Amino acid sequence: MTRFVKFIGGFAVAAALVLPMTAQADDKDVIDYRENVMKTLEAQTASLGMIASTQVPPDNLVQHTEAIALMAKAAKKSFEAKVLGGEAKPEVWANNADFTKKMDDFVAKTDILAKSAKTGGVPVVMEQMVDALTCKGCHDVYRNKK
Ligand code: HEC
Repeated sequence: MTRFVKFIGGFAVAAALVLPMTAQADDKDVIDYRENVMKTLEAQTASLGMIASTQVPPDNLVQHTEAIALMAKAAKKSFEAKVLGGEAKPEVWANNADFTKKMDDFVAKTDILAKSAKTGGVPVVMEQMVDALTCKGCHDVYRNKK
């Protein structure tokens, strides 16, 4: 970032822009990153739960469902690197076709949920929420809860 601020213009900027894309995440980074994505999902799901139980007004219904849909896509990508560890069971990669299918299903359903939030609002989201948030279905098989 310092480099980016120092040389606004010319080749230095180009280098600064290219560098992050070639960054190599080590194994710990890969695990920390996917856990951060999961924690974001947890916070967004909890927020949606607060709307569902009418603890807070539904003003941000669309924002939360969109955040979940976006993070579902990020979660799928974050498991593409085969890095065992964290709370992920080795089965994530041993049965990767099934794991990926579960991720795809999660991505597809949360995408529909976000669209429903825009068109149908709270009632439709409440109806689809349990089916779309397949968190437990995946965790039961692929996560070692510490
Ligand atoms: C297709 C599988 C899958 C789905 C769907 C999924 N998760 Fe996860 N989740 C995992 C795996 C695997 C881990 C363990 C990751 C690790 O520790 O490396 C995990 C870890 C977590 C963690 C722990 C993160 C930490 O700090 O260690 C939380 C919280 C979490 N998930 C929340 C959610 C929520 C909320 C949803 C649904 C909205 C969800 N997950 C959907 C597979 C999934």
